[in-house]
Amino acid sequence: MRNFLILLALFSACNSLYLPEQVHIALDWEDTGMRVSWSADQPSYGSVVQYTPVNSPNDTVTKFAYSNMGSWKTFLNMDVSKILQRHIHVCTALMSGLIPGGYYKYRVGSEMYGWSSHFAFRAKRNFTDDPLIRLLVYGDFGIGQQAEATTERLIQETETYHYDAILHDGDMAYDFPSYDGSYGDRFMRQIEPYASKIPYMTSQGNHEADTATLHYLYRFNMPSKSKNLWYSFNLGKVHFLAYTSEPPFWNQTGLQKQQQEFIDNDLSTYNRTEYPWLVVFGHRPLYCSANWSTSGLEDWVPPVIRNNNDCLQDAQVVRNTFEELWHKYKVDFVINAHVHAYERLASVYHNVSVPCEYEDQNTCIGASEPVFVVTGTPGNQESYAPISPTPLPFSMAQDAGWGYSRLTVFNSTHLYWEQIRSVDQTISDWFWLIKSSKSTAYN
Ligand SMILES: *[C@@H]1O[C@H](CO)[C@@H](O)[C@H](O)[C@H]1NC(C)=O
Ligand SMILES: *[C@@H]1O[C@H](CO)[C@@H](O)[C@H](O)[C@H]1NC(C)=O
Ligand SMILES: *[C@@H]1O[C@H](CO)[C@@H](O)[C@H](O)[C@H]1NC(C)=O
Ligand SMILES: *[C@@H]1O[C@H](CO)[C@@H](O)[C@H](O)[C@H]1NC(C)=O
Ligand SMILES: *[C@@H]1O[C@H](CO)[C@@H](O)[C@H](O)[C@H]1NC(C)=O
Ligand SMILES: *[C@@H]1O[C@H](CO)[C@@H](O)[C@H](O)[C@H]1NC(C)=O
Ligand SMILES: *[C@@H]1O[C@H](CO)[C@@H](O)[C@H](O)[C@H]1NC(C)=O
Ligand SMILES: [Fe+2]
Repeated sequence: MRNFLILLALFSACNSLYLPEQVHIALDWEDTGMRVSWSADQPSYGSVVQYTPVNSPNDTVTKFAYSNMGSWKTFLNMDVSKILQRHIHVCTALMSGLIPGGYYKYRVGSEMYGWSSHFAFRAKRNFTDDPLIRLLVYGDFGIGQQAEATTERLIQETETYHYDAILHDGDMAYDFPSYDGSYGDRFMRQIEPYASKIPYMTSQGNHEADTATLHYLYRFNMPSKSKNLWYSFNLGKVHFLAYTSEPPFWNQTGLQKQQQEFIDNDLSTYNRTEYPWLVVFGHRPLYCSANWSTSGLEDWVPPVIRNNNDCLQDAQVVRNTFEELWHKYKVDFVINAHVHAYERLASVYHNVSVPCEYEDQNTCIGASEPVFVVTGTPGNQESYAPISPTPLPFSMAQDAGWGYSRLTVFNSTHLYWEQIRSVDQTISDWFWLIKSSKSTAYN
């Protein structure tokens, strides 16, 4: 009897090693697919995702409509303070054959080694009758106290499955490998409440370009042939393209050449009649106002002039690399982050604003060049940047303090963008980008 109890105790201890956690989903190439990824302390054979339509007549815990095999990948964490590095295991699986707009519940794991809790998501809709899409957008999201206000808001925002996707425009966890990779685990657990419900679409930031690179390449599973570095997808009337702003900063000329081939090919072949809006997102800004004066919230942040390079020399490098592409393919809207601030610029080309056919503080009708935004304030351990005392002449709005953005695209002509303060939920900036008959025809 005693032996049996010891065995039982051992078995459950081992079992927890295999318990799936850090569950998150992403859009697939196919409209009828949804990708799911998770982690465990140890990989286990026979891992699957089980999913079934909510309210299906066969909706029981044990009988599922489909079950798709997961595949495990393992990489070595790189915490420079440790000699022995930890192995990190990530499993991915595909939920396929989904009914457009259907609600599904799912769990991952196996009968043998244990299941995650149940999660639910909404499959990509059929936008023929209703093109309206809604996204939550931010970059530069860390963990701990400074991420709390935004985390709470994002959980509320996603309670009703109202959003079609979340864009995380680079820089995560600060950093994934820190403290034996525990920061990475904490970050992935922190986003799980909503990243398990709404497709969590990412781009690579500079914090994922150094020792955290493998975390970025393995933990996420974007519809990409380049390990999440660049890819595109469509929602409603919008073609989204994710790219990495990092190659020019790490002398990766070969990688940038490959990326440029992808961008050229993707943007010259997708159907612009079907998707009149072209929105790109990548981490470092082409344009932002310099001289984000001193420290933000935390006393320990040294009182230095921050981010001058980010908006001066480095922004010039980003422009040299990408501006002609965004100009050539008539990108409508460029989403950047990296600077821990919120800023919206006008329609800009070659460092000069290009007037819209009509414009005021919160509206641009008929833009001929991209409009740029920087959204880097959900909160992280490096604090935020106060408002720049020396804004660019074409800086339209700035905000400091914790916050995140919402992107709503109503139809082929109306795009709406707003910035929300996490602390009190006020809207600190809002903006309409509207296509005129001229600009629509031009596309
Ligand atoms: C539910 O079960 C019935 C009877 O077994 C079967 O005919 C039907 O295809 C199932 N539906 C789904 C959605 O699995
Ligand atoms: C989307 O909906 C339209 C109109 O309701 C329909 O004609 C079309 O077949 C649907 N497409 C898909 C892929 O389900
Ligand atoms: C990239 O190359 C330049 C010129 O060769 C060099 O000055 C710079 O330090 C290199 N940067 C990195 C990150 O290797
Ligand atoms: C692009 O989409 C439109 C509208 O759906 C369609 O009429 C047209 O044939 C498509 N063009 C190409 C090249 O597929
Ligand atoms: C861009 O424009 C700003 C403001 O007009 C100016 O201060 C800056 O020097 C310009 N930068 C370049 C690289 O031309
Ligand atoms: C930054 O601030 C310094 C000192 O106030 C000023 O001399 C400089 O012109 C500013 N630079 C920019 C790009 O605004
Ligand atoms: C597009 O959406 C806007 C905002 O809701 C609305 O005012 C406009 O009438 C819509 N246009 C079309 C063609 O439906
Ligand atoms: Fe960054």
